[in-house]
Amino acid sequence: MKIIISNSQKTDSKHLLIPIANNGDDAPLKAVAQLAGIDHADIVQDFKAEAGEVHMLYGNGQRFILLGIGHKTNNTELTRCFRILSHKYHHKLSREITIGLDFGNVPSSISKTTIIEAAVNGLILGSYKIGKYKSQQKENTHPLIKEDTVISIQTDIAQDVAAESVKKGRILAETQMSIFDLVNAPSNKKFPEVLADWAIKSGQAYNYSVKVMDKEEIIATGLHALLAVNQGSPTPPYFIIMEYRHASHRSQALPKVGLVGKGVTFDTGGLSIKPSGNMHMMKSDMGGAAAVFGTMEVAARLQLPVHLIGIVPTTDNSVDAHAVKPSDVIDSYSGKTIEVIDTDAEGRLILADGLAYMVKHYQPDVLIDLATLTGSAVRTFGYHAGALFSNDDKLAQQLHLSGEHTGERVWRLPIWDIYKEDLKSDVADVRNFSGRPLAGAIGAAKFLETFIAGHTQWAHMDIAGVAFNDTDFSMQKSATAFGIRLLIDYFKTLTEQ
Ligand code: BES
Ligand code: ZN
Ligand code: ZN
Repeated sequence: MKIIISNSQKTDSKHLLIPIANNGDDAPLKAVAQLAGIDHADIVQDFKAEAGEVHMLYGNGQRFILLGIGHKTNNTELTRCFRILSHKYHHKLSREITIGLDFGNVPSSISKTTIIEAAVNGLILGSYKIGKYKSQQKENTHPLIKEDTVISIQTDIAQDVAAESVKKGRILAETQMSIFDLVNAPSNKKFPEVLADWAIKSGQAYNYSVKVMDKEEIIATGLHALLAVNQGSPTPPYFIIMEYRHASHRSQALPKVGLVGKGVTFDTGGLSIKPSGNMHMMKSDMGGAAAVFGTMEVAARLQLPVHLIGIVPTTDNSVDAHAVKPSDVIDSYSGKTIEVIDTDAEGRLILADGLAYMVKHYQPDVLIDLATLTGSAVRTFGYHAGALFSNDDKLAQQLHLSGEHTGERVWRLPIWDIYKEDLKSDVADVRNFSGRPLAGAIGAAKFLETFIAGHTQWAHMDIAGVAFNDTDFSMQKSATAFGIRLLIDYFKTLTEQ
């Protein structure tokens, strides 16, 4: 698909796609009615411009596709509207569409660059097909994946500015879809090695460095907590290290951000085994790793002015006679010993090694980890926000704001030291769980804090409820690629200072 930008005011395109808000302003719809030679009142009967509402009109030899974008729309909502159109109505889309943005139809609360990025992002995401493992693979007939399809965006803003938004929307969508595939993949097709391969391929394609430690190197390095979680598994762990640095001559001055993602490819719970009801969803327990992967790839493709290090410890959490047992005391990369109270609290164990390794070897200015870490975060925020923890108010504020901008919401919870009491162990330096079903997400954050070696700008995002979620595009819960857009937005605030 080709996307072109045109400043021309000509409205004679055969297929005109027009987003319309329902903010009480009926001028845009009147303009469309006049163009089509239809009575405005007739359109209003059938089309309320609710978010995601689609209405087709024929008139003047043209087809008008009206897309409702609701009111008070944010970035994510907008993207969702275009994605719904693209997903549900793809058989009605042609190979040549003009998107009209100059009918006064984009409310002043939404910038033209925002709507262009959302349109491109949503239209492409709408071509995503989830049924990768169906034996009868139907040809994907979505017009937007065909090479000869041309989308022309008609806008009065500068062409190069619009082109930037097109590029961002497109790159984001491509990486998000690749991440959807990874997170949606079942655990018998998604071993730690598959995650390592994803990173290696991405690094090769987009020119950033990827180093992968295999089990032997992990043993030699002393990543004991990762090894402990892997003990009951037939497949070996990997420790993935990615680095992207913008090629500027002032690279010393680039903000250095360390990202650590939980890469548990399937979480049975181990000997503290999970109930079976929702266990199938635990193929998505690498949602934190997916966010780190996607962010690295997008940053490299957009050549953002940052220095990023991404670390993903990856293993599954399986059970056999060798599996780590409740009461076992394990070592960790930091040197601290850990009493394992619950083998289902495995994510914090592998993150402990990831965080300690990151701080020791890379000393990032800002340290951020993402993980599908606790059921407690899901019980607190449901499926609508991630839990945010930070020892730095400014960092917390910036991540929160990026969450608001992108619709990938996070809300801060405290990490007061009083919660450390719960993690005191009689036999080891720290235990991985208090043994009580209270303040679970906070307890997990406090545990992680033990392994950041006093880093003063650290944030932890517990994305258990939002990485794998209900969508308009799948019957069951599926991958959201949560975190990528949030972090990419956050980098902007870092470089604007
Ligand atoms: N992967 C789970 C957390 C999770 C729950 C993710 C629901 C997505 C949806 C994590 O490893 C886990 O099992 N956490 C336990 C910790 C407890 C045993 C201290 C939990 O939250 O129940
Ligand atoms: Zn678990
Ligand atoms: Zn887990």
